[in-house]
Amino acid sequence: MQLFLDTADISQITARVEGGLVDGVTTNPSLIAKSGADIIERIAEICAVVPGPVSAEVVATGFEGMLEEGRRLRTIADNVVVKLPLTTDGLKACRTFADEGIPTNVTLCFSLNQALLAAKAGATFVSPFVGRIDDMGGDGLGLLEAIREVYDQYGYETGILAASLRSVTHVEMAARIGCDAATLPPGIFDALVTHPLTDSGLKAFLEDWKKTGRNGLSQG
Ligand code: E4P
Repeated sequence: MQLFLDTADISQITARVEGGLVDGVTTNPSLIAKSGADIIERIAEICAVVPGPVSAEVVATGFEGMLEEGRRLRTIADNVVVKLPLTTDGLKACRTFADEGIPTNVTLCFSLNQALLAAKAGATFVSPFVGRIDDMGGDGLGLLEAIREVYDQYGYETGILAASLRSVTHVEMAARIGCDAATLPPGIFDALVTHPLTDSGLKAFLEDWKKTGRNGLSQG
């Protein structure tokens, strides 16, 4: 499963790319606004440090405007993925971009029918918003399962990008369900590596080693 960082904060991204575990980045208008940066400049900065898919979202709501903005975003770098809202116009723009070979991420997906339409429109990724569904008392992970089942049943190639994730358990479940990618806020990304037994186990190993009086692995 690909792991994306869900942020437009360039310092948060650069701090995490070196380990080679970050496969891409997702942004949205709220995240860009929060960063205070110009969208074109910020997406260019992100693309310069992340070679994988970088989702940049249009803010136009009409078909023509989406095409214009999507094309503008694509001039920034080859790894820009045009993020489109799951609306009638968004799906129409998705089909146009798909026919042109331009990668897309259809976002704000809250139902199986919406995910079905995104696949039929040729989306590269669909982004079901797990956390926001849970927030409303729904079953966000259940939606991921249903989309996986239907996409497999019909052989749709659209990647399921689990979004709006709120916990490490969401990430584990997205992986078990067979999502193609998950986008994570930096804090959740960092939390994936930690386990209290890893910390206490390492501490005990190092204390035992210290008792040998050796430095590192050498005899000296
Ligand atoms: C990413 O593509 C989405 O925009 C993001 O995951 C939404 O997350 P939120 O529900 O925490 O705002």
